[in-house]
Amino acid sequence: MTEVTSLTVGVFGGTGPQGRGLALRWAKAGLKVIVGSRKLERAEETAAELRALSGVETISGLDNLETARQADIVLVAVPWEGHRALLESLREALAGKIVIDCVNPLGFDKQGPYALPVEEGSAAQQALALLPESRVTAAFHHVSAVSLEDLSVSTMDSDVLVLGDDREATDLVRALAETIPGFRGIYGGRLRNAHQVEAFTANLIAINRRYKAHAGIRITDV
Ligand SMILES: NC(=O)c1ccc[n+]([C@@H]2O[C@H](COP(=O)([O-])OP(=O)(O)OC[C@H]3O[C@@H](n4cnc5c(N)ncnc54)[C@H](OP(=O)(O)O)[C@@H]3O)[C@@H](O)[C@H]2O)c1
Repeated sequence: MTEVTSLTVGVFGGTGPQGRGLALRWAKAGLKVIVGSRKLERAEETAAELRALSGVETISGLDNLETARQADIVLVAVPWEGHRALLESLREALAGKIVIDCVNPLGFDKQGPYALPVEEGSAAQQALALLPESRVTAAFHHVSAVSLEDLSVSTMDSDVLVLGDDREATDLVRALAETIPGFRGIYGGRLRNAHQVEAFTANLIAINRRYKAHAGIRITDV
């Protein structure tokens, strides 16, 4: 597996549950982590909280642009509504870097969650269109932020589907997933197949609501 523990991971939207959870686990695994935010103070506040929670000092907070500049690899963990504008603003800073998109374009109504149509096909393909000089991958759509932030959960018990068109980049993201105990990184296909992976999160949320669970996925026979 690719050596990843020397990398600095930046997390856009690192002040939200998904970003906080993954930032916490990566820091626990020995990586340097930068919590990104639209506001520097919020990033610093969250980084301080995560340092206290984890007992790890290698978590800092910066605005999203500076996070993009200083990180080796980044996770996009902002709501779908903010996806396009954020990535547009970071195009230059992210040139040449591996970008991991975990954004699920979902709507919610009285019947619960449902997948939104996306002009480019998926959030990941929109990222690819907006960041032509970056190495775009998609992963971590189905992980539970609640379980990630709960350090009493010692093993995550879930596979992480990693999609992308660049073998080296997907291998690295799989390795990054596997720094978190219990996660197994599984190649999940090309970016053109990201829509159904993002959309499946609506089914998982429905499962979680019905069974009061934090369900994940497992791929068998691999
Ligand atoms: N929650 C989960 O369990 C989970 C699991 C898998 C995937 N995801 C995906 O991960 C992403 C983040 O989920 P979340 O639950 O952590 O979301 P969230 O709390 O709604 O948002 C995360 C952070 O994004 C920033 N943000 C909010 N609106 C923004 C905008 N318009 N433009 C740029 N940044 C904005 C905020 O940080 P600042 O105000 O500090 O900038 C916020 O704290 C979503 O796309 C979701 O589909 C979530």
